[in-house]
Order: sequence, then structure tokens, then C-alpha cells
Amino acid sequence: MVLTGAGISAESGIKTFRDSGGLWENHRVEDVASPEGWHNDRALVLNFYNERRKQLLECKPNRAHYALAELQTKFDVTIITQNVDDLHERAGSSKVLHLHGELLKMRSSVDEHLVYDCQHDILEGDKCERGSQLRPHIVWFGEAVPMMDEAIPVVRQADIFIVVGTSLVVYPAAGLVNYTNYETQKWLIDPSDMPLPRVPNLKFINEKATVGVDYLVNQLLTEE
Ligand code: APR
Repeated sequence: MVLTGAGISAESGIKTFRDSGGLWENHRVEDVASPEGWHNDRALVLNFYNERRKQLLECKPNRAHYALAELQTKFDVTIITQNVDDLHERAGSSKVLHLHGELLKMRSSVDEHLVYDCQHDILEGDKCERGSQLRPHIVWFGEAVPMMDEAIPVVRQADIFIVVGTSLVVYPAAGLVNYTNYETQKWLIDPSDMPLPRVPNLKFINEKATVGVDYLVNQLLTEE
């Protein structure tokens, strides 16, 4: 089981959240990624995600995404990602759980089960089949994270738990590490000197994703 965050996509050209003075692509996070932001200025929020979607369509998976897909040749791999990009899928990973939603989907703003594919801009006035404004299929700050219900059992059953490129500060996702078993082998790959979670059997690979994931995957694929 692999938990990924913004850092795994950094080398594909997608900025992380917490490395630019608290601003996300020049916006305050609460303006573009919260129910209040949506209430205050829908056009701003729609435009922000339209830009993110265009940017994503120009990016490609990197060595770390591909290496994780190669792990499937030997292991039953589930990727639990906080990322809203589709780079794991494009690299070939077949089981990907998106905790925080997906940029290439949109949904009704009155019925969260009405979800549609979306490769284009969402505009004010674009409506779902029930006549409500369509919104990005993104879990904003302050909203529930329904995919946690699927993620927790996967973590509990994992023999190997790999964390890549997340600051582990946003809950509930950051708490997933606490559902691992004592004997689960755990690796954390990140280039920063972050505080490590206090769990047993954790090894820290202090490298960028393309280097650290490639190294670990090679090790896991070759060991008996
Ligand atoms: N390779 C691996 N990790 C990297 C790289 C890289 N090339 N570059 C940066 N990082 C690391 C940083 O050191 C940091 O620990 O990636 C992490 C990024 O942390 P955040 O920006 O906080 O991103 P993330 O943990 O994914 O944020 C969680 O917060 O804003 C919300 O919903 C959003 O899903 C997001 C959540």
C-alpha cells in the first residue's frame, strides 16, 4: 500500500501546497479550496480549477509514478493518493484511491453521487441533471473525506506501507499511518527533513521521489 502526496507529482511540474509561502498558485487556499470560498466567489473557484486542469493535461507521469506501477508485477498494490491528478493512472497503476477527489471529474453541487468525467472547463451556468451548478470533484478543507472508509481497511491489511511526498499535516489522511500493524514494513520517502511519524519499523529514505521510489521499488522487486 502506497500513500502519496503532492511531492510525488512535483517532478512532473505540479507545485506542492506548502512550499510557496502559504499560497497555492498565488491564491490563499481558503479562497479556492473551501465551501466558504465557493460560496463567496464561484467564478474564482471554477477558474482556479479550470487552470489546474489545463496544467495537468500538459504534465506527464515521472519515474516515481512508473516505478510504483511496476511494483504490480510482484505485489498487490493499492495507491492511496491525496493528489487530484491522474498521473498514477496514466503511469499504469490499476488500483488508485483518490482521498481528495479528482481534477478530471466534476459533480453536482446538490447530490455528491452525481459525478461526471470532465476534461474541459466548468463554467458558471453548467448544470447537473438535477439542475444545480456543477463543481469540481474535489474535497475542500472542511468537507468530509468519504474515501477514508475504503482506505482504512486497505492500510490495516498491508504488509508493506510506503509513504511518498506528503508533509503528513492534513488529516484525516495523515492519520492513516496509525492504522498500520506493528510488523508492517514502513518506508517514508521525502527530500525534506520532516518530523517522522512515531510508528515502529519505519525507514526514512531522504530523497526526491524519482530517486527514492526507484531505489525502493528495485529493492522490493529483486529481494527473495
Ligand atoms: N519528491 C518527493 N517529495 C517531495 C518532492 C519530490 N521531488 N518535492 C517536495 N516533496 C515533499 C515536501 O518535502 C513535502 O513533505 O512533498 C511534500 C508536500 O507536502 P504538501 O505540499 O503539504 O502536500 P500534501 O502533503 O500532499 O498535502 C496534503 O493538503 O492542501 C491539501 O488537499 C491538499 O492533498 C493536499 C493535502
